[in-house]
Order: sequence, then C-alpha cells, then structure tokens
Amino acid sequence: MTGTAYGNAFTAHMVLSRWNEEEGWSEPRMVPFGELPMHPAMVGLHYGQVVFEGLKAFRGEDGTVALFRPEENARRFRHSARRLAMPELPEDVFLGAVDRLVAEDGHVLGGAGSDSLYLRPLMFASEPDLMLRPAREYTFLLIAFVTGGFFGDADAISVWVCHDQSRAMPGGTGDVKCAGNYAPTYLAQNRAAEHGCQQVVWLDAVEGRWIEEAGAMSLFFVRGGPEDAHVVTPELTGTVLPSVTRASLLELAGRLGHTPVVERVSLEQWRKECENGEMTEAFACGTAAVVTPIARVRDRDGDWRIGDGTPGPVTRALRSHLVDIQNGRVPDHADWLRPVAAR
Ligand SMILES: Cc1ncc(COP(=O)(O)O)c(C=O)c1O
Repeated sequence: MTGTAYGNAFTAHMVLSRWNEEEGWSEPRMVPFGELPMHPAMVGLHYGQVVFEGLKAFRGEDGTVALFRPEENARRFRHSARRLAMPELPEDVFLGAVDRLVAEDGHVLGGAGSDSLYLRPLMFASEPDLMLRPAREYTFLLIAFVTGGFFGDADAISVWVCHDQSRAMPGGTGDVKCAGNYAPTYLAQNRAAEHGCQQVVWLDAVEGRWIEEAGAMSLFFVRGGPEDAHVVTPELTGTVLPSVTRASLLELAGRLGHTPVVERVSLEQWRKECENGEMTEAFACGTAAVVTPIARVRDRDGDWRIGDGTPGPVTRALRSHLVDIQNGRVPDHADWLRPVAAR
C-alpha cells in the first residue's frame, strides 16, 4: 500500500487484547485486519466507555522505521482510561503492541518523508450489559493506516470562533482522549465550514474568554520576529488535551533560540495584538495536523488576519525542525524516536 492521505486504508494486521476482572489483560494477539464480532448491548457502544490514542511512525533517511514519542501516548492512554473508570493498559503492553504492528506492517512506508504510519490504539467496554455502571470486560485494539508525508510548506487555514458551544468544562473530560469528546464538536465544525473556515476555535466554558484549542489541535501564538520570538501556548487548565506535539514544540522553540511561554491568552488579546502587530504568527498542531499555520480568524464581531496571512518564519522553522527530527534528518538529542525493526 502506498499513497497520500487516507483515514480508511488500513494495513494488513491489527492487535487485540481483552480484559476481564478474573484474568486481567490477555496476551495481545496480532491477527489479520478484519471485522470484529459485536454484541448489540456492548457497553462502549451505548454509554461511550471508549478511549483512544493517535501516534505515528516514520521512515528515516537511513531506512529505519521509528515511532515518535510513543511513551507519551502510552501514559496518556492510561490517564484517559482512569478517567473513564476503565482498566489501565500497562505502558509496556501498549509499547509492545505498537512495536509489533509497526514491525509487521511498517514495510508499507515508502522512502524517508514520503508517508507516515498513523497508529490508532483504542479501548472499549465490550461487556454486553446495559446497566449504568463501569463494564467488567474491555477490548484493546490497535490498527494502523498510511497517511501523507509532510515535507514542503503547509497551507494556512482560517479558523472560526465558536461562542455558543463548548468542547470541555472544568471537571469534565477535556484533558483526556475519550471518544465522547469528538462527536459533540462536529456541529460547530460544520458551522465553521459554512463560514469558510477549516477549524473551530474553542473558548473556555466558564468565561467564554480564554482560548483553549483549535478543533482537535493545540494552539500556538508567536509574538515578535524570528530574532526575538516568544512562542506562546495556552496552559493546561484541565480542559485542554496535553498534546504530545505541543510539549515537543515548546521544547523545540527553546532549542531554536525562542522563548517558550505557557499562559492564558484571551480572544480579545489575540485580536488586539494581531491588529497592533505584536502578535505575528499563529498555528495549530497535533499528530495528524503536524504544524498548520493560521492565516485568518473569523469572529462574530468581525475578522482579523494573522501577520500578512501567509505562514510565518517561526512557524515554518518549528515545523521543519519537528518533521526533520521525525524523519531522522537532524539528530534526535532527546531520544524522541523509538526505532522498530520493520520488515
Ligand atoms: C482535542 C485535541 N487536542 C490536541 C490534539 C493534539 O494532540 P497530539 O499532539 O498528542 O496529537 C489532539 C489530537 O490528539 C486532540 O484530539
């Protein structure tokens, strides 16, 4: 299998493990990719006891295939499971599963930078019982598909600010990756599209004032130019997903000589600082989106442009540095890559 961007072109295998109260997790099995039998009363389907992850493997310049920071996803998967009263999958089991699937199916990756392999670990309550309580049986599933490479400049996107719906609330599930966080954002996503925008900007649910995320991506703002840039991202208040890409870019910003800043940024500030030239760039980021520059913001009181509306130098440098590490083009000083002996 070769090619560009697919969310439905899966590789030939998948990994499965099951959990029950008596035996805990079963030894994960790799099986041919295929359909799963499903009981009509499966708890995950009815009550949303479902958590997932998203991570990628890349082929480097030297031909090796490596996963990018999978330990972070293993940890977040446990954290998400805990929040939904699900059993935690030990991190070594998670890592063993992703290693195994990449070793078996990683050969689908072309040369360095051509494609990446997106891995989707999922855990769902598989007990058939419609009582409202945590299930007593769970299934862990790992599947993978090939997605496009990310060399060259990304196109800048427009974002639309949502004021009447919230993605997350204090005490809710905004800081974990559960399935139930996503479908409720689709209506706003449709409305963003009606306004000619590719993504929704989510504000905090309490004051409707502080910027949190863009769709299913983390947000960054740049103050100043490449010589004196402050690379700013909203703090993790409990309603924002602790993104692996966000953490990586904060570190890379420091390495590139910029000042990384974690602080709350209000919508009003965003507009004012763009208008007075203090804020020069903005971008969204995530495993799937990598680094996506933002060109324009559409709000109910009017629109504003970020910088000159084209991807800025700090955004481009951060993006290429991240992609270069992922593809083994520059040294991986922080051991972010986990090499896998793929066929
Ligand atoms: C809500 C949300 N925010 C941010 C991100 C980016 O996180 P990461 O960099 O770990 O992919 C994701 C994607 O996982 C997400 O679903």
